Amino acid sequence: MAILLTGGAGYIGSHTCIELTKEGYDVIIVDDFSNSSPKVMERVKEITGKDIPLYRADVADKEALSRIFAENDIETVIHFAGFKAVGESCRLPVKYYRNNIDSTLTLLEVMAEYGVHNIVFSSSATVYGVPKKVPLTEDMDTGCTNPYGWTKLMIEQILRDTATADKEFSAVLLRYFNPIGAHESGRIGELPNGIPNNLMPYITQVAVGKLKQLSVFGNDYPTHDGTGVRDFIHVVDLAKGHVAAVKYVASNKGAEVFNLGTGIGNSVLVIVKAFKDANGIEIPYVIAERRSGDVAECYADPKKAFEGLGWKAEKNLTDMCKDSWRWQSSNPDGY
Ligand code: NAD
Ligand code: WQD
Repeated sequence: MAILLTGGAGYIGSHTCIELTKEGYDVIIVDDFSNSSPKVMERVKEITGKDIPLYRADVADKEALSRIFAENDIETVIHFAGFKAVGESCRLPVKYYRNNIDSTLTLLEVMAEYGVHNIVFSSSATVYGVPKKVPLTEDMDTGCTNPYGWTKLMIEQILRDTATADKEFSAVLLRYFNPIGAHESGRIGELPNGIPNNLMPYITQVAVGKLKQLSVFGNDYPTHDGTGVRDFIHVVDLAKGHVAAVKYVASNKGAEVFNLGTGIGNSVLVIVKAFKDANGIEIPYVIAERRSGDVAECYADPKKAFEGLGWKAEKNLTDMCKDSWRWQSSNPDGY
């Protein structure tokens, strides 16, 4: 029995592939490399010593996907595949709805045809929209501020409806907070397309000399130092959350949502300082305008994941900063 990782060559998928392999699971990957490099899999092989079966295909391509299910004994799917850039989704909403929704619908049709009932889905804290209060618990209101977020919320609903209709179906909806860091080997990590939108890859590109300085988007938020507060979580901790979710879907029916965060909010300026303390590199920054769509504070209450999945984040900010920098400094131009 194998676990199929759609989008498994991406940032979170590749780290999850390693953690599942370490736990003895057989993993298969399908990825169209629209936002990743095939070289990732060579690095994963270096780390795990295993050749992970890889299919280059679009998950929305029903024929190609059916072939994968026909050729393998798949027990559970982890559905990472999708586009994830918030800003691009505002400019090109149809591209996001088409890819994220279509790929999910095709996947669900093929899973049903082959009698596969278990799915773990990559949702996002973005589905909480503008939080009324923090920490965020899974029962709080949802509502999005961008098309990317709406695709996540719509897919959550599609999975809930499927679980209502099919009593054999089991879905775990994982709402990730802000994944950063990289595998401790420094061999795999996040590969942003062009100039990074997210904080940590921006910081590491300033540190490596590719970008001049960081713009801190706003210092007048109602937070302890005025800058935005987020729940940054090490990607390896996040990957381990998927191992726990795979165990959970195999023995529970219905659809269940879990936050994957640390429960700790850290501000932008705290991250800048933590990076300096961990790596000895000062990050020059300027205070800029708030970024449209940003919220002041967003961090998880991770209690449900601890109680339901037996999982909690273990790594601290120093680990996150050191591992992000090890990956960036040893791979300045990516793979
Ligand atoms: P990523 O872009 O690195 O990985 C996604 C992978 O999916 C890529 O390898 C891409 O080539 C592939 N892909 C996209 N569309 C595909 C399709 N139709 N068919 C086959 N492959 C396809 O992103 P990531 O950071 O690893 O995120 C994984 C998932 O987690 C995404 O669904 C993302 O929306 C979600 N998520 C990410 C974050 C984050 O901050 N990184 C936070 C919350 C949720
Ligand atoms: C973090 C903080 C910025 C860049 C995004 C998505 C979310 C999820 C995770 C997918 C904020 C500030 C950033 C910079 C800055 N992804 N910042 N200067 O916006 O919390 O979440 O990634 O699901 O959906 O929206 O993450 O890293 O972009 O920003 O000051 O150059 O850093 O304003 O306060 P965000 P981020």
